[in-house]
Amino acid sequence: MRKHIVAGNWKMNCTFTEADELVEGIMEQLEQKDLDSNTILVVCPPYPYLEMTTDYANDSYFAVGAQNVAAEERGAFTGEVSAEMLESMEIDYCIVGHSERRAYYGETDRVVATKVDRLLAHGLKPIVCVGEVLEEREAGRQLEVVKTQVEQSLFHLSAEQMQEVVIAYEPVWAIGTGKTATPEQAQEIHAHIRSLLAGKYGQAVADEISILYGGSCKPSNAKELFACPDIDGGLIGGASLKADDFIAIALSF
Ligand code: PGA
Repeated sequence: MRKHIVAGNWKMNCTFTEADELVEGIMEQLEQKDLDSNTILVVCPPYPYLEMTTDYANDSYFAVGAQNVAAEERGAFTGEVSAEMLESMEIDYCIVGHSERRAYYGETDRVVATKVDRLLAHGLKPIVCVGEVLEEREAGRQLEVVKTQVEQSLFHLSAEQMQEVVIAYEPVWAIGTGKTATPEQAQEIHAHIRSLLAGKYGQAVADEISILYGGSCKPSNAKELFACPDIDGGLIGGASLKADDFIAIALSF
């Protein structure tokens, strides 16, 4: 059975004290509620809080992810954080190709592909984000846009490498807007992604890959989204900043 994954992307939020309280809140919730053993919870705080979060994670039941990684291996790249550094801190996952990185920092599929390679070389699992912007959906181009993103950022990988990857479908018009994709809209794209994977790597590999939905996912809509056959969890922004909402989403399978 495919793993269910619920990943919290804190983005550029929280002071150190707030981050500490949020992780403690998550731990308290986890002590009170039983997550399904097939569900992996991933917390992705800003870089400066990774160590604090991994310290907590060590005696709890969640994995830790970074929100970005350098495309370069090491050296004179001021302000960047490498996959090697994340590996040395025992970070498990890393988000790549988030639409905010694509829109504000010029991250192309080619850059995403390089970052995926760096992460895999250092034993981290990339959470690769794809998704169309509003104008592309309005023009009926969502399937084609997502196909190009998946092919160009991932199809250079071997089947073995591909099995380490998590994909997140995040329609850009649904991120932080309160406008969630309907379960039908999301399922259509998730099934499309899985069929692309099946075409390239075979059905057995495609069936092993977790595909998450992201974009205004919250406790009130998680259940109907997660009930869709090809939706294996969520990448959660705003709602991951409240421990009880985040855990409520993780309990929505
Ligand atoms: P949101 O963000 O849940 O706040 O819409 C999701 C994301 O950007 O990963």
